[in-house]
Amino acid sequence: MDFRGKIVLITGASRGIGRCLAGDFAKRGATVVGCGRSREHLEETLDDIRAASPMSRVIACDVGDRAQVRAMVEKTIADFGKIDILINNAGIGMRRPFIETPLDTIEEIMRTNFLGMIYCTHEVLPSMISRGSGHIVNISSGSGHIGTLNMVAYCASKFAMNGFSESLYHELTPLGIHVSVVSPGPVRTEFNRPFAEIPPKSPPSLAVTPQAVSPAVIRAIERQQFEVVVPHWLAVICWLKRMAPNLFRAVLHRMFR
Ligand SMILES: NC(=O)c1ccc[n+]([C@@H]2O[C@H](COP(=O)([O-])OP(=O)(O)OC[C@H]3O[C@@H](n4cnc5c(N)ncnc54)[C@H](OP(=O)(O)O)[C@@H]3O)[C@@H](O)[C@H]2O)c1
Repeated sequence: MDFRGKIVLITGASRGIGRCLAGDFAKRGATVVGCGRSREHLEETLDDIRAASPMSRVIACDVGDRAQVRAMVEKTIADFGKIDILINNAGIGMRRPFIETPLDTIEEIMRTNFLGMIYCTHEVLPSMISRGSGHIVNISSGSGHIGTLNMVAYCASKFAMNGFSESLYHELTPLGIHVSVVSPGPVRTEFNRPFAEIPPKSPPSLAVTPQAVSPAVIRAIERQQFEVVVPHWLAVICWLKRMAPNLFRAVLHRMFR
């Protein structure tokens, strides 16, 4: 697919998967607008992609803040006239027993991972609908398919994202707008660092790099795939859960104990 002339808005572009996506889209000729809360880290992303995509830019924006999201989308459309691809990637994690998790933490996770995606999608969609084209990619997680120990708020935010994406797919496909939901397994980024010692700990050998996730996102857009799970072993595990949910839950419960 030729991404030249395409405007790609990526949330959470200052680190990890989002930064890698920004680089890969820039290399393919797209103009990237990347957001995150830390301007300093965003500038590092911009330094990475400026040579390949001189028109690309970054905007400091907290996706959990409706006014900031509106301002970011309005500015992007004012500057470029359109947004072709929205990648809802910004996310935060957590590993802690539910009962020990402050409600403020749960609200923050839902506001960033779920409502942030809703706010961005809601702001971007009218212009996509009026043009009759566009692609929305939501970066979910294996934890959006499998409820795992000590991850209630995170799992809830990603299960909600998957339900939202599936429903939206039916609404937008007739309008010429594509929806994809990409669910990575463990990825080597800063994401897990704050709670690396709290179970469940996935073996480091299972973690992939952001460079393995980014092509799967780009392929999902090129092939208009709705659901993508990376890497393959996680896709098999998600399939097993769908086939035998009770057995799957019993085995997982034993493993966690
Ligand atoms: N790493 C994994 O193991 C893994 C596995 C499955 C799925 N995922 C998903 O992949 C996505 C990216 O994760 P990652 O591993 O790349 O994490 P990361 O390295 O921690 O990067 C997260 C990005 O999101 C931004 N962000 C966080 N809160 C934000 C907010 N309120 N508003 C705007 N930007 C915000 C961060 O920038 P600022 O902090 O500057 O705002 C950063 O750019 C997340 O949705 C995550 O759930 C990750």
